[in-house]
Amino acid sequence: MDTLDQLAQEASAAFAATDDPDALEQVKALYLGKSGQISMLLKGMAKMTPEERKTAGANINRAKEAIEASLAARREAIRRLALAARLAEESLDVTLPGRGETRGGLHPVTRTLERIEALFASIGFDVADGPEIEDDFHNFTALNTPADHPARSMHDTFYLQEESGKTAEGILLRTHTSPIQVRYMEAHVAKYAHLPTMPEIRVIAPGRVYRVDSDATHSPMFHQVEGLWIAESVSFADLKGVLADFLRRFFESDDLQVRFRPSFFPFTEPSAEIDVAFLSGALKGRWLEIAGCGMVHPNVLRHVGIDPEKYIGFAFGMGPDRLTMLRYGVNDLRLFFDGDLRFLRQFV
Ligand code: DAH
Repeated sequence: MDTLDQLAQEASAAFAATDDPDALEQVKALYLGKSGQISMLLKGMAKMTPEERKTAGANINRAKEAIEASLAARREAIRRLALAARLAEESLDVTLPGRGETRGGLHPVTRTLERIEALFASIGFDVADGPEIEDDFHNFTALNTPADHPARSMHDTFYLQEESGKTAEGILLRTHTSPIQVRYMEAHVAKYAHLPTMPEIRVIAPGRVYRVDSDATHSPMFHQVEGLWIAESVSFADLKGVLADFLRRFFESDDLQVRFRPSFFPFTEPSAEIDVAFLSGALKGRWLEIAGCGMVHPNVLRHVGIDPEKYIGFAFGMGPDRLTMLRYGVNDLRLFFDGDLRFLRQFV
């Protein structure tokens, strides 16, 4: 084999021994670079006779082409190897279990609210809502709550501040859903002002409320559902009937005792608190408070322009968070608002 063939083979072997593009370029320089072997051979032709030069030139060029061809082939091989390596690294394992779409679900308190709405809708109650940022008038004054009532203190109520930092005059996070009663009655009175007799009001109002309070059974944000029935003739017996019936339907149980315990609220007279006790099950025999209620105080009706000599009715405010705890047997209210999916998924 002549030296040129040998040179081409040696170059091909050297290319084959490299496997990254930079190293390949360095090896290339040894053969095809300015002072590489081929250049040296070409320079050496200067001393040859024209005859010799002709054959030598042709031979050297053939060797050069062979080397260039094996360089190109190696470049391509290295590119493919790199691509294959990358593909292997980034490959999809189609046998892995998919991440999939997880199924969403309603929050347990939302389920309770929907259930309460459906049950009250079935006996002709409308559903209303109102603003969570309230004014002092709707949250307290119109509800017959005196200026020195403890609920108005900063210890119990979140007051809003203006950007300057000073307390905004009488703007607060509503402490109960009762202001929705006031707003609903105001709107109702305005809507039917042209009629000699106001159509009756039958409404519930679910929503979030806020108080400065936090422990296992109190969260600074919680839910209430307000209820209101005003007509020409509504009695405390109607109140008892509506709520006792609601509770039996809500818990799907007749195994339930309902107790009305005398209490005080500025906006009702007389007032009561509603307790329930189950006759069987884990909570058997324990009385649990779930709502406040009473006959709407005449002053509340006067504040919204309803004649208390002509109309009468009852109101109630219940705690759907408590109802949810009872229905599902959950003992810490805060679990509902921590956002822990391991807890929440159990209700889906
Ligand atoms: N607003 C009361 C509270 O947050 C609950 C309440 C009691 C609402 C009696 C009423 C009612 O409508 O009649 O404690």
